[in-house]
Amino acid sequence: MARIIGVCNQKGGTGKTTSAINITSYLGLVNQKTLLVDMDPQGNATSGVGFNSEERKSIYDVITGKVSLGESISKTQWPHLYILPAHISLTGGEIELVNIEHRESQLKRELDKIREDFSYIIIDAPPSLGLLTVNVLVASDTLIIPIQCEYYALEGVSNLLHTIDLIRERLNPSLEIEGVLLTMADFRTRLTLQVIEEVRRYFGEKTFNTIIPRNIKLAEAPSFGKPIHFYDYLCVGAKAYLNLAEEILKEKIDVNSLVTQMDFQRTADQRA
Ligand SMILES: Nc1ncnc2c1ncn2[C@@H]1O[C@H](COP(=O)(O)OP(=O)(O)O)[C@@H](O)[C@H]1O
Ligand SMILES: [Mg+2]
Repeated sequence: MARIIGVCNQKGGTGKTTSAINITSYLGLVNQKTLLVDMDPQGNATSGVGFNSEERKSIYDVITGKVSLGESISKTQWPHLYILPAHISLTGGEIELVNIEHRESQLKRELDKIREDFSYIIIDAPPSLGLLTVNVLVASDTLIIPIQCEYYALEGVSNLLHTIDLIRERLNPSLEIEGVLLTMADFRTRLTLQVIEEVRRYFGEKTFNTIIPRNIKLAEAPSFGKPIHFYDYLCVGAKAYLNLAEEILKEKIDVNSLVTQMDFQRTADQRA
């Protein structure tokens, strides 16, 4: 039965989508059947795995009850990686959900139907604390909270924690924090070192050991529709997300056993 992990922070640009894409891709690479659920109307996770959301029905159609999940989930071109895409119409989803009964648990209700089919379900949340994010909090077993190493890094985090507490009280008592993830670290700056210290003081053990460095390759890969492993598997960003996947799996990943970029290209070419 799938473990459902939401990637949340209502602040934009903290590395939610980048993390959701690359965590799912590494879990898939170690043969865990994984579903990436794009809950952000921007659809960045959808395009970031090279998927054109126009091709299929989106999560919007699913949570408003218009289509079944089966009609909306697609296999991506990456190993064991499936997508439940979003497109801009999801913006309307927030409004439309207002009139639905149990509107906070629509996503949970739908994901419960397919939980048996996957090992992991990773949900990329939008940059707000609105109804779509509430749906993510209700549907998740655990949460990953990416925090960017920048000024005011912890700003807004107390709002998020408060919302998580409310959700625990009323809708999802077993919701846990999987981990707080420091992103876009520039280890040459004092600011980064201060933020790391501050976050570790605040969250203690809940902070992932893995810290994601600022790495231009991580910013480039989505424009090619590729998870980092298939864009440049040797870059520091790839190594960091591999380490993060190990922390989530609580086991070592044998790098040599992974489908390398070249192997992958070769099989793709053979198939074509
Ligand atoms: N570790 C990183 N190094 C460099 N750029 C990054 C890194 N992580 C994310 N980015 C870039 O920063 C921007 C915001 O990241 P994104 O993952 O989209 O954040 P969010 O989903 O929280 O809004 C994107 O342009 C992304 O490519
Ligand atoms: Mg995003």
